[in-house]
Amino acid sequence: MKVLVIGSGGREHAIAKKLLEDSKVTDVYCAPGNPGMRKDGITILSILEEEFDALINFSKQHQIEWTFVGPEVPLVKGIVNHFQKAGLKIFGPTKEAAQIEGSKQFAKNLMLKNKVPTANFKSFDHFQEAKEFVLTHDLPLVIKADGLAAGKGVVIAETKEIAIQTLHAFMEEKSLGQSGNQIIIEEFLEGQEFSLMAFVNHDKVYPMVIAQDHKRAFDGDRGPNTGGMGAYSPVPQIDECMVEEAKETILLPIVHGMINEGIPFVGILYAGLIATPDGPKVIEFNARFGDPETQVVLPRLKSSLAQIITDLLENQIPTIQWSNQATVGVVVAAQGYPKDYQKGMILPERFTPKTNSYYAGVKEKNEKIVANGGRIFVLQSSGKTIEEAQKKVYDALERVDLPQMFYRKDIANKAFIDNQR
Ligand code: AMP
Ligand code: GLY
Repeated sequence: MKVLVIGSGGREHAIAKKLLEDSKVTDVYCAPGNPGMRKDGITILSILEEEFDALINFSKQHQIEWTFVGPEVPLVKGIVNHFQKAGLKIFGPTKEAAQIEGSKQFAKNLMLKNKVPTANFKSFDHFQEAKEFVLTHDLPLVIKADGLAAGKGVVIAETKEIAIQTLHAFMEEKSLGQSGNQIIIEEFLEGQEFSLMAFVNHDKVYPMVIAQDHKRAFDGDRGPNTGGMGAYSPVPQIDECMVEEAKETILLPIVHGMINEGIPFVGILYAGLIATPDGPKVIEFNARFGDPETQVVLPRLKSSLAQIITDLLENQIPTIQWSNQATVGVVVAAQGYPKDYQKGMILPERFTPKTNSYYAGVKEKNEKIVANGGRIFVLQSSGKTIEEAQKKVYDALERVDLPQMFYRKDIANKAFIDNQR
């Protein structure tokens, strides 16, 4: 069986690699993919993720069994609708269902209607009104652009000055384009963050093991927000009851709510949650696998990912088993990221002890894999404990030369610090 993965990052590398583990899968194509994926036997294509017609033609010509969509942009632009119209099987939400990620307002309304716990919020489409709100409320406040913003649309404002500057940038200067036409301002939720992802097929919800991302650029959760600097799984300081409660009070009501709206969700539903003293509350939904969470969650999947997707597409009940192993993944980024950074640095070819490398911002030059983006690759390892997995990754990173690159040294530390309290 041949399958196609859409996307080009570390998440797609992890998805494609996992799909290849099934002996029934002969070929995994990734469009456009990146040259770092080739080491794992993935075939990369020179078709971009938004070239729907070219992707459809390729799928027809190469007898692709089904397509899996990694990133949000093609989903929000309707890749699933296009493939389905062409009579092709594809796993992911339609354009309408992907609004749960594409429009914060849509997601918030759906949560309100279905009594899903989330931060209190108010929406604005006029700068003056938003400014007035900020001036009359306590800080910190969280300001979010309504549309997609590649991780740049959320600012936690600790001062009124920053809040107003942010509103001005989003709403008046249009620093994020149309995505800032509407904004929401929400209360800041205190507590540990965790990511709960689930395979979803209409009313059927199969939660995965949870993970924790690290959004800030530098150790100790300092510096600017990024696309994510590392993740680990399990997250021992979040107990089973909290996860069970999240399934009952968040995932199930949301998928039922979507069915009631006439836009059932099929695909991976990602809930970004905060464990508050009042239970889990939603800070965001994504309509896809998380990055870098996928690079630590999929290595724990014992069942065949290809079979799970096949079963879901055929409305069968999949077998989904997870290992007890712990996983840690550390993002190696270019010095300067998330602002301006250098490109072209040559990457190490081998890591010891044995670890998995999932490539993102890379290209090929003179037969070498070189850095070509902010987040370059994730190095991931597994172990009996989080400590063991963490030690392997950091040992491997310390043994290689990473010119003009950096990584956080404290990924997964929260698992120990909070447990010691
Ligand atoms: P997002 O892009 O929505 O995931 O937001 C980026 C980051 O901002 C999240 O990972 C959280 O760390 C933080 N964040 C977003 N919303 C809130 C909130 N209401 N309270 C506290 N932190 C938040
Ligand atoms: N790790 C957060 C995200 O994928 O949006």
